[in-house]
Amino acid sequence: MCGIFGYVGATQAGGEIILDALRKLEYRGYDSWGDAVADVPDAKIGFGHTRWATHGGVTDENAHPHLDCTGRFAVIHNGIIENYRVIKDRLIARGHLFHSETDTEIVAHMIEDAVADDPDRDLVSVVREVFAQLRGLNAIIVMDNHTHQLTAVKNVSPLVLGEGDKGFYLASDALALIGHVDRIHYLEDGQVARITADGVSLWSATTGATQAPNFEPLTLTATDTSLGIYPHFMIKEIHEQPDVLRRIGREYTDPVKELAALIRESYGAFLVGSGTASYAALSGSYLFSRIARRHVNFTVGSEFKYQEHFITDRSLVIALSQSGETADVIESVMAAKQRGAKIAALVNVRGSTLDRLADFSIPLGAGPEQCVLSTKAYTAKIAILLMVAHELNGSLHVARELLWQAVDGVEQAIAPESANLIRTIAASIVQREHAFIIGRGLSYPTALEAALKIKEVSYMHAEGFAGGELKHGVIALVEKGTPSIVFSPLDETRDDILSGAMEMRSRGGMIIGVSPERDRVFDAYIPVADVGDASPIVNVIPAQLLGYELALLRGHDPDKPRNLAKSVTVK
Ligand code: F6R
Repeated sequence: MCGIFGYVGATQAGGEIILDALRKLEYRGYDSWGDAVADVPDAKIGFGHTRWATHGGVTDENAHPHLDCTGRFAVIHNGIIENYRVIKDRLIARGHLFHSETDTEIVAHMIEDAVADDPDRDLVSVVREVFAQLRGLNAIIVMDNHTHQLTAVKNVSPLVLGEGDKGFYLASDALALIGHVDRIHYLEDGQVARITADGVSLWSATTGATQAPNFEPLTLTATDTSLGIYPHFMIKEIHEQPDVLRRIGREYTDPVKELAALIRESYGAFLVGSGTASYAALSGSYLFSRIARRHVNFTVGSEFKYQEHFITDRSLVIALSQSGETADVIESVMAAKQRGAKIAALVNVRGSTLDRLADFSIPLGAGPEQCVLSTKAYTAKIAILLMVAHELNGSLHVARELLWQAVDGVEQAIAPESANLIRTIAASIVQREHAFIIGRGLSYPTALEAALKIKEVSYMHAEGFAGGELKHGVIALVEKGTPSIVFSPLDETRDDILSGAMEMRSRGGMIIGVSPERDRVFDAYIPVADVGDASPIVNVIPAQLLGYELALLRGHDPDKPRNLAKSVTVK
């Protein structure tokens, strides 16, 4: 969370470059933003930060950058400094004055202390020394107002370095460098980068010796990050799903076979992810069971560490993540690696921490997801897991057939008439406070994901349940008119889920059926294609659209729900 960006270059438009980059990084947090820009002979030096608040409220004082007492050093930061309290107390005892409640501010004062006796001390060694004292997954950029340099270092939290016609750049995501550079270098943990008007320098994390950047091409383009004809990224990304799925069906044979082989060789495989990615992982667990007759365990990222004890050097952990930066997932992967497990990743952002930590990584190829809500990365993950499950069963051709049907199904689900229907349903429930969503079997994770999509963007309280669990408590909450969404594919769950729907209806629930076939129990009916085991891909689309429409009707920006950030890089 939090986006950081630094620039040193010859153009007078340095300030605008920073602002423009912050707009691109806004998805990482939009509680507040700040920048600092200085003129040096023939160059601009500056940096900016977009904040997702962790320590201290959303106030001007807590917005980055943060300064030391002398005003010489400014710092921007992404992460959480876990031991900041002890260090801050020590600094206060030494007479430092703090202006914010953030953990970040300590860094500026620590640097100030480290150069107090020798103001000409090389900042690179100071930053190395200071950073080594910080606990946690952090990335920082320090701006020195005297020597006019930006110095950066990171631990797990990402930082990318770029060199372009107009100058030199640092950013927490390559996305911010589109249009400025063609080649990027991903900083390694502990590696220190310095950019000045004269160029870029790097120091090795292990030896401290200077080293050359390991540049690779930046393949993202401006079209990947623009809205095009759409009013919001959320609806743009929902509409991109057919293309993403088509590409997976066409091009993913080799990686699918490779992941299937890793699962076959492993002594036990575990799926892990957070939020939406966890529901894709749970869908995968169902798919592996029903198609490949394999038990592939599933745990949410934040719980992995409490369940990791049986991981061995013969285990395979399959981590799912759009950003590849989710702290809970990264921590799980690092813990599993320590136990000797192999790591496979299904990850959208190339070069992300997860991508780089994994022994084997399958890129989702979904293109940048800029709406804070995950949509296309979700269906991409399920499509890949469906193919892997079938490959394990020796029936990859069936998965491909199902995927083509799913592509058609998704296209029908986003077609104007379906979207209009969803809009009408949204208008009929927009005033309600609660919605309940049920599914069984493969549709259970879909119910969880549908609830997440609706609640996080519209702020309507929505809960997903396994259909059979309703009567174990939750049904007490159903009252006259309560929207109750029921996923009812034409599979073995149909009779039981319709009984559940009837039970809700008997208590006054307004039943919204998502199904290839209408049923008398439905008060409102959203038709979806019958696509067998690919149903999680198609059935989630009406929920994505419903969330979007509810957000619009309630006057919320669907791309930036309150309190959220796209990359959850803190625990
Ligand atoms: C929900 C959403 C989040 C993310 C979760 C994991 O729409 O976007 O629940 O799915 O924070 O993020 P990634 O996939 O980047 O690891």
